[in-house]
Amino acid sequence: MMKSNYLRTAVVVALFAASSVVFAAETKIGKVMKESMKGESSLYKTVALGKGTDADAAKLLAYVKQLPAEKPPEGTAESWAKKTGALVKAVEDVAAKKPDAILVLQKAGNCKACHTDHKAK
Ligand code: HEC
Repeated sequence: MMKSNYLRTAVVVALFAASSVVFAAETKIGKVMKESMKGESSLYKTVALGKGTDADAAKLLAYVKQLPAEKPPEGTAESWAKKTGALVKAVEDVAAKKPDAILVLQKAGNCKACHTDHKAK
């Protein structure tokens, strides 16, 4: 009887430990994705469709600037540097209202192209 209670406690403790690992596993990249890229009315979509305000562009820039320093789960460092660099540059150009910057951003923000190379399968 005592023994199975200990066992149960051990299992519960182990489950807590496991779930905190799952929470800790949210990466900075994942956080940026959820807060700025994900969804039909995301900050990214708003800006990339040319519907964003100056403040939206500035906010998106602050998000994407966090990406280059991170290490993606997959892919080479060169590819990551190139893709995230292009994304940061594109958002900077949108914020600076450069002509065609929106079109460049739509390409640099291509979800699938980046996920194929850098997101864990
Ligand atoms: C420059 C590269 C890049 C671009 C562009 C990009 N992503 Fe991601 N995204 C990643 C990487 C890398 C991960 C995996 C992060 C990890 O597991 O640490 C990811 C993960 C995600 C996740 C999962 C986040 C989580 O932790 O649950 C979502 C949702 C997501 N991306 C949405 C999008 C959408 C929508 C777009 C396009 C509008 C997009 N991403 C464009 C690199 C990118």
